[in-house]
Amino acid sequence: MVGVLEAKGIWKVYETAATRVEALRDVSVKINKGEMVAVMGPSGCGKTTLLNCLSGLDEVSVGEVFVEGISIFEGDDMLRTKVRREQLGFIFQSFNLIPVLSALENVEMPLQLNSAEPNSKSIREKALEALDKVGLKEWASHRPAELSGGQQQRVTIARAYVHEPGLLLADEPTGNLDTETGTKILDLLVQLNKELNITMLIVTHDKAVSKRCSRVLEMRDGRIYRDSYNSVEEE
Ligand SMILES: Nc1ncnc2c1ncn2[C@@H]1O[C@H](COP(=O)(O)OP(=O)(O)OP(=O)(O)O)[C@@H](O)[C@H]1O
Ligand SMILES: [Mg+2]
Repeated sequence: MVGVLEAKGIWKVYETAATRVEALRDVSVKINKGEMVAVMGPSGCGKTTLLNCLSGLDEVSVGEVFVEGISIFEGDDMLRTKVRREQLGFIFQSFNLIPVLSALENVEMPLQLNSAEPNSKSIREKALEALDKVGLKEWASHRPAELSGGQQQRVTIARAYVHEPGLLLADEPTGNLDTETGTKILDLLVQLNKELNITMLIVTHDKAVSKRCSRVLEMRDGRIYRDSYNSVEEE
């Protein structure tokens, strides 16, 4: 079976004249459709580097990455950009919303980028539907600065899945939120995973997050040293 995402023997080495950091060391992993996978490990162990390499934001030093069966480093930057725009959605700790755009316009972005007909009515409708799903329809015209942290993160989630990517990558999605808001964001991610069958890879330090995932990858010193499945779902 072809995984939604597969890494084969990837290494990422950051090298300058004076230093050499092996951020990833021979990482191989396969993520299957519908899985909700947590990536855990101490600061500096390579979690963000792994997400960046799996999404082609960063180039691997050695190895191969397949997104929906496409070998992303066999092509050029254009291929990787296309794969990211069409197949992947991103959620970052710091939200990364565009401040001058409204919530709705932020959510429309991935659709605009993928469409031959930007500004069409269907784009607006789809974006509104995604905002509705995260409970923010009434806030569509507000700019990010006028929203709370939790609301901004919900806009980010709507933006991440509005173009129906096969895979959602999240780096500390609850890291900047208080516990209660973080729990709500997590509930929303679990709901999207279950209802829309979106595969998710979530970097987190939070055990409350990893407990809700179906699988946990634990990293140390640039390697995955444990890959385990959560047998009991906490629902
Ligand atoms: N652009 C870069 N240039 C040089 N070294 C880097 C670069 N990015 C990351 N590193 C190094 O690679 C290693 C892994 O970093 P990474 O950001 O992936 O860690 P992390 O697990 O995400 O940590 P955290 O939990 O603090 O976010 C670290 O030693 C870091 O210093
Ligand atoms: Mg990180």
